[in-house]
Amino acid sequence: MAKKYAVMMYKGGSGKSTTATNLGAVLVDMGKRVLLVDLDRQGNATTGVGFELGEIPRSLNHLFADSELHPRDAVIVTDFGLHVLAADRGLARTAMNMSPGDMFMLRELLSRLDDDYDVMLIDTPPNEGYMTYSALAAADAVIIPVATRGFSEEGLAQTIDGITAARKSYNRNLQLAGILFTNVERGTLVASSVLKSVQEDYADVVFPYVIPKASVLDKGNAAGMPGVLLEPKHKAAEAYRNVARRLVDANQ
Ligand SMILES: Nc1ncnc2c1ncn2[C@@H]1O[C@H](COP(=O)(O)OP(=O)(O)OP(=O)(O)O)[C@@H](O)[C@H]1O
Ligand SMILES: [Mg+2]
Repeated sequence: MAKKYAVMMYKGGSGKSTTATNLGAVLVDMGKRVLLVDLDRQGNATTGVGFELGEIPRSLNHLFADSELHPRDAVIVTDFGLHVLAADRGLARTAMNMSPGDMFMLRELLSRLDDDYDVMLIDTPPNEGYMTYSALAAADAVIIPVATRGFSEEGLAQTIDGITAARKSYNRNLQLAGILFTNVERGTLVASSVLKSVQEDYADVVFPYVIPKASVLDKGNAAGMPGVLLEPKHKAAEAYRNVARRLVDANQ
């Protein structure tokens, strides 16, 4: 059965999509069967692994719209072996028309693919809403990327509240896989104050690895090829490999 991680943080630009695509790539490299699920209408994870939003024959949104479709029929595959349920702009309208019962659609969809994958990574939008609730309902655990550029604490507290609420009302077993510092510029004042305050508040749930600021990750997003594959020896690639290994080990 696939282990499902929601990559979530109620703050824009915290490294969610970059983390989802790069973790996906290193997990594939480790021999895992990985499905990337892009729930964000911006589609940054989808484009970050090489697809153009307008050119995808079937996206996640088609699955939401047509319950007759098998989710496998919407899976697209990257050159490097990562499987993807892609985003499209229509996800915004779908979210608008969702009612509480629809929150479990994603869980149902993904459960039909359970035997096909070892890991699923669900990239989410930065705001609270039906797409993030759907991710929380479908996931076994949440990875929270926190960019250390300031004003992250509020988004983090809100995200943790979201997880607690999900546990109370619709996903009792939801775990917190960990808080992952991303885009870390060691030595900058903002980075060290955010790191310090989060480490104080959430000491036991912070990943022992941080993702450094690395232009290759930015470059990879723009090029449609995860940075960890562009420069596998880069420190940032090593950091994502360490995080991936930790996730795999925790699940054995
Ligand atoms: N470690 C890093 N080093 C350098 N740039 C990074 C790093 N991580 C992310 N970025 C860049 O920061 C920006 C935001 O990252 P990303 O899109 O992954 O965040 P996000 O949380 O998914 O954003 P959104 O909330 O809009 O979905 C992007 O331009 C990305 O290329
Ligand atoms: Mg994103």
